[in-house]
Formats: sequence, structure tokens, C-alpha cells
Amino acid sequence: MKALVLSGGAGTRLRPITHTSAKQLVPVANKPVLFYGLEAIAEAGITEVGVIVGDTAAEIREAIGDGSDFGIKVTYLQQDAPLGLAHAVLIARDFLGDDDFVMYLGDNFIVGGITDLVDSFRTDRPDAQILLTKVPNPTSFGVAELDTDGRVVALEEKPKEPKSDLALVGVYLFTPAVHEAVRSIEPSWRGELEITHAIQWLIDQDRDVRSTTISGYWKDTGNVTDMLEVNRLVLETVEPCREGSVDENTEVIGRVRIEKGAQVTRSRIVGPAIIGAGSVVSDAYIGPSTSVSEECRIVDSEIEYSIVLKGASITGVRRVEASLIGRAVEVTPAPRNPSVHRLVLGDHSKVQISS
Ligand code: G1P
Repeated sequence: MKALVLSGGAGTRLRPITHTSAKQLVPVANKPVLFYGLEAIAEAGITEVGVIVGDTAAEIREAIGDGSDFGIKVTYLQQDAPLGLAHAVLIARDFLGDDDFVMYLGDNFIVGGITDLVDSFRTDRPDAQILLTKVPNPTSFGVAELDTDGRVVALEEKPKEPKSDLALVGVYLFTPAVHEAVRSIEPSWRGELEITHAIQWLIDQDRDVRSTTISGYWKDTGNVTDMLEVNRLVLETVEPCREGSVDENTEVIGRVRIEKGAQVTRSRIVGPAIIGAGSVVSDAYIGPSTSVSEECRIVDSEIEYSIVLKGASITGVRRVEASLIGRAVEVTPAPRNPSVHRLVLGDHSKVQISS
């Protein structure tokens, strides 16, 4: 069995973060969301992995290399334009050969991995196996309609009036039957060859399409609240460590990772939290469910339930909460007189000011 991991796409829903970085590399608990997927694939015993890349190819290649860090062997497959998930299967035809495969969307996060799923697929070998999960916003997804026995009767891509709240999760298992399906469909209104339509084609041909409903799922629907929540969830499971330095005037409580080269002085850190490699935290409070990436500076500030990306600095500010701070962002207090807000915000930024 092989894996096909999709890491193209523009990431419009997570702007402005994705203006400067591939959406699959957005970190959850300081690790790119894509890495969790690759780890889950390796754990399921799959080693041959095709990675579909688009405009952000260089960044993705730099992050995963040849795959040996994950115990997999990566073949990169270039998709020249974002023409859809079924188009990705089309261009991966030679790589996939006649093997069964799992298609994994690199911006999806599945709690608990895919090992059980892959094992049961290997045993039963239906033509396709999809994953479903209940979501509050089905219009942002592919949506499945099930009959009373739980069989999939119809699938619809981003429906205006969804027939259920069961969204297609971005992990699909296929036998080579899917190749005929992706060749048989036409582009959708958004100009993409939809994998949803290819699976519907299989259903229409009376092929065996099964579904499994899961919980514990996140995807980049542009909702920072969801992202903070998945960050919280994952932080609750990370291994605590003290690889950086912590002075005696600092109090560290609960599950906290302080990574290599981080320096923490005169601060209070209440876990679960991570302080990334090379970051400086001084005279600060870092509250629960906070991920501070590498090379950040949190000085004379308080922050809680937030994600701070690489190289950002927060100085003299209290209190930051439920926030996503981008790479190399600087947050400082405004002068007291005149009492004004001073903002330099990139395109698509969102700011909430307490005044
Ligand atoms: C794609 C699929 C959709 C699925 C979603 C899961 O959406 O087309 O059916 O529910 O992935 O991540 P897209 O990311 O292209 O909007």
C-alpha cells in the first residue's frame, strides 16, 4: 500500500498566516500539521509516499526532505495548478501503479492516527473507504448523505443546503478502481476535478464505498478558534522536557516543554505549554494552552491560550489571550500620550483591541 499526501493549495482560509507560509506547515503544538499526517502514515506501516506539491514546493521539500526523518521514502509530484484532488490522483497515476493507497490531505489533522483504519481497509478492501465527521459548518466541506443502514448514498461538494452535518474528512482509502473514476468526471463549478465527484461516480457504478465516522478532527477552515482548540488538545499530550535553561526565579507548573536553547527567567509558566528552541521568556507569564515557536521573545508580558509563530516578539503587553501571532510579528505597547492605537497590519489581518 502507498500514500498520496496533498501539499499544494493556496491556503486562503488561513490568511494572513498563509501569505508567507504553506498551509500544511502551520504549526500545532510547534509542529507543522503536515508532520502529524506523515507520522500517522509511517505508523500505519506505509513507507512509499508521494507528496503532491504546488507553488509552495520549495518550502515543503525543505521541511520533509527525502522523508527519512519520518521513516518513509518520499517522491515529489508537481501539480502545476490547483486543479483539484481528483486531478492529483490523475497525475500520480505512474507513482501509484496498481497499488491500493491512502490519500491524505496535508492540512487535515486527525487525532489518534490512521492505523486501525488502514488495517481494516487492508482486510476488507472495499473500492473506496471515506471518513466522515460531524461539523458545525458543513457548507465548507464535502458532505455525505447516508441511508438508514449507514450506507453512503450521495456526496456533495460544498453544498449550499447540506443534507447532513457529516463532512468528508481529508483521508480516503482507495483501490485502483478510483483511476477510472478520476478519468470519468468533469471539473466542478470551481474549476476543479473533485474527489467527491469521483467517489460519487463509484457509488453510481454500484462499487463498494464504505464510510467510517470519527471524532477528533481539525482542518483549516479559517477559523482561528478551532486552531487554538486543536493546539490545546495536542499540548495536553506532549512530552514535558527541560532542554533549555530556567532560572531559580521562574515557576514552572504542569506539562511544559522548554526546548533546546530557550532561556526562561523571572517568569511563571503554567502548562500545558511549549517554549520553542532559542526563545527568550523573561518577566513574563505564559498561561495554559500556549505554543511559543522558535526564536521568539516574550518579555514583560502575559499571554495565554495562544499560538506565537517563529521569531515573533511580545514586549510590555498584558494580557494577550486567544490569539494567533504570525512570524516575526512585533507587539509592543503604544505610547501613553497621546493615547492611540498604532497598527501596521498585513493584508487580511484581524485585530481586536480592548479599549
Ligand atoms: C477538500 C474536499 C472536501 C473535504 C475537505 C476536507 O476541500 O474537496 O470534500 O471535505 O477537503 O479537508 P478543500 O480543502 O479543497 O476545500
